[in-house]
Amino acid sequence: MKPIEWLGKKLKIIDQTQLPGKLAFLELRAYTEVVAAIKGMKVRGAPAIGVAAAYGIALGAQDIKADTKAKFLSQFDKILKAFAAARPTAVNLFRAIDRMKKVAETAGDVAETKQALIVEAKKIHAEEEVATRRLSQLGAGLIKNGFTVLTHCNAGALATAGYGTALGVIKAAWEQGKKIEVIATETRPLLQGACLTTWELMQENIPVTLITDSMAGYFLSRGKVNCVIVGADRIAANGDTANKIGTYTLAVLAKENSIPFYVAAPTSTIDFSLSSGAEIPIEERNPEEITSIKGVRLAPKGVTAANPAFDITPHRYITAVITEKGIFRKPYVDKLQKLLGE
Ligand code: MRU
Repeated sequence: MKPIEWLGKKLKIIDQTQLPGKLAFLELRAYTEVVAAIKGMKVRGAPAIGVAAAYGIALGAQDIKADTKAKFLSQFDKILKAFAAARPTAVNLFRAIDRMKKVAETAGDVAETKQALIVEAKKIHAEEEVATRRLSQLGAGLIKNGFTVLTHCNAGALATAGYGTALGVIKAAWEQGKKIEVIATETRPLLQGACLTTWELMQENIPVTLITDSMAGYFLSRGKVNCVIVGADRIAANGDTANKIGTYTLAVLAKENSIPFYVAAPTSTIDFSLSSGAEIPIEERNPEEITSIKGVRLAPKGVTAANPAFDITPHRYITAVITEKGIFRKPYVDKLQKLLGE
């Protein structure tokens, strides 16, 4: 499965909003189409958003008509701004934007810069593939034969344009021959767990049971879960983690029931500029995602609804952060910074 594929003059992506009913692909030819795909959740998940944005920026650069580098950079800046405004929480997006900006500023003339941007986008993609594979191998060591693992949202190949993070760990344990079972939460309001996580696991024949988000306490309190693994959209330097709304609830429930709670993410998801989770911007999405499901209205017309898309899990609830550079346990600040040399 290739959730994101660069085809030279266009970007091919799986339209995640069509799954599991239809495996549909979109071919995006303009950067504005890539921005719209990110805003519309056709491509979603922190690492995948970063990869799509990098290719989208490279795509936009190819269409710039400028006879001087200064004119090129001024038009290029508009493209970067459009991506930066697409979604606020996943730091991989901003990391990709920064890298593409740096390449544009340091490369040679306009023609060379356009080429260098394609090379950099491919590099970002390749790095995510390697990192997610490596962290999955490392994390699989935490999963024992016979484990039941609970996961939330979707942190598989679709969300990472690679091997997966939380689901990557699960897949790697399965590939090592461990008999494991997965409990996937449906993940209201957009149902990434119900639509995407179950679909990805079923492709691999990994046993999965779907539950509603509100059933998690029941399963965690009855000894039916050995560990919880989730992905991340941004991790602050102290280990506080922004992830899909509902993650914090799971972490508190896991602690209450003495169940290990793991966060799996590539180091591109760690934001060392933020000392704690309180500084992570949380996306507020359209309340219609709460009052309707797939276009069918459930709640009374005119009702007030709130829709924060992510929450922050304080580091004290996180047993370990699984990255491609190692598995980190508390206290996170020194350990993460030392190992990554930040
Ligand atoms: O809003 P989304 O679907 O882009 O959510 C992001 C996520 O996929 C999850 O929060 C995920 O657990 C972390 S990203 C691999």
